[in-house]
Amino acid sequence: MNVTNKEFLADVLSGLSAEPKTLSSKYFYDKKGDELFQQIMDLEEYYLTKAEYEIFKTYKSKILDIFTSGTKEFRLIEFGAGDGYKTKVLLEHFIESETTFEYKPIDISQNAIDKLKTDLNGNIPKLNITAEQGDYFQVLKRLPKINHKKNVILFLGSNIGNFTLPEVESFLIAIRNKIFKNDLLFLGLDLKKNPDKILRAYNDSDGVTRDFNLNLLSRINRELNANFDIDTFEHYAAYNPVNGECISTLISTKQQEVTVDNQKFFFEQWEPIHTEISRKFSLKQIEKLAAKCGFTIEKNLIDKNEYFVDSIWKAV
Ligand code: AVI
Repeated sequence: MNVTNKEFLADVLSGLSAEPKTLSSKYFYDKKGDELFQQIMDLEEYYLTKAEYEIFKTYKSKILDIFTSGTKEFRLIEFGAGDGYKTKVLLEHFIESETTFEYKPIDISQNAIDKLKTDLNGNIPKLNITAEQGDYFQVLKRLPKINHKKNVILFLGSNIGNFTLPEVESFLIAIRNKIFKNDLLFLGLDLKKNPDKILRAYNDSDGVTRDFNLNLLSRINRELNANFDIDTFEHYAAYNPVNGECISTLISTKQQEVTVDNQKFFFEQWEPIHTEISRKFSLKQIEKLAAKCGFTIEKNLIDKNEYFVDSIWKAV
């Protein structure tokens, strides 16, 4: 078993021993999970990707002006780059405008990183790119600190919404500690809105989100010598407008025992495994968060439906 799988196994064993049982959504993204997430992004009900794409198309020149203000050169680091579908709008515009910048995409999925590199090398050959695979916290820790060019950190697509609140704050503070005054953080955040709209995005009528959630159990079966009976678990999502958390769970529809790497786990009938948080923010909350983590808001870019915000923060 390689290091990555050892870590995966350790996390799964401790998550299934916890009360309530939990599995981290960061393990959704194997090859099958990446494919299912692509399908989710194409769904009518999953408004997030479309809203952020619209923001990039509308404001790409404004974004470049902000990135290049006071400098000729910048280092663009993207956490959770995925397939780069939205970022490409910006990268192409930056290259066409003859901007000098280097691009460092980071993703938890090796499969996503490999595909992204091939795609960008083929389609934007002038791009100076060095990609890295890994857990965001671990990659951030080993990221070299540089001050001879402006640092611009991208964390798009509401990816930070998948963190717990303590993780959100510690990650933003860790980013602040890696960069310098006047460097930028560009955060894609999903806004609080009609709760029904949010819930539909995580409980789509085609069942793609269900398959995405259940794939985590299939992945554990495939990679960690486990015997989850997938048909006895159901996807259940719930949105809490008070704390802004949409949670995804997998519910055991019967009493059962599951074995993972020779360890047995007992499930009561209807017992949940908590698999994901997708956090939604208000603009007021975003402002407070920026101040708490050492930033001021330079600009909030919002789509026409007011579903999503790309919030550009400046380090103070
Ligand atoms: C990657 N992340 C921001 C997605 C989200 O909206 O929380 C993952 C996702 N989970 C279910 N649908 C999409």
